[in-house]
Amino acid sequence: MQIHVTDPEGQTRAVEATPGWRVMEVIKDAGLPMRADCGGCCACATCHVYVDEAWLSKLKPASAEEQDLLADSYARQDNSRLACQITVTKDLDGLPVTIAPDAI
Ligand code: FES
Repeated sequence: MQIHVTDPEGQTRAVEATPGWRVMEVIKDAGLPMRADCGGCCACATCHVYVDEAWLSKLKPASAEEQDLLADSYARQDNSRLACQITVTKDLDGLPVTIAPDAI
């Protein structure tokens, strides 16, 4: 299965995604730009992505910690999520995400 990742320059790539991995790990493993400074501990917000709005309802809701981190982001949008808080599952095959400018 794959997810579709758009980088900050607008280039979209389909990258292989393994169920159980986090979207942040998939993006970094593919060599795409993403800081992810805290390594996935939900403590930095440098794995910020925009999720295609049609897919938001397929994701688990953001935790209070994730919402707090996103609230501090200058680049926050209604479809913002932290990529380390999205676990790849089979029903996310084809998930489109865009790397936010504060994640690079
Ligand atoms: S990697 Fe730090 S919050 Fe996701």
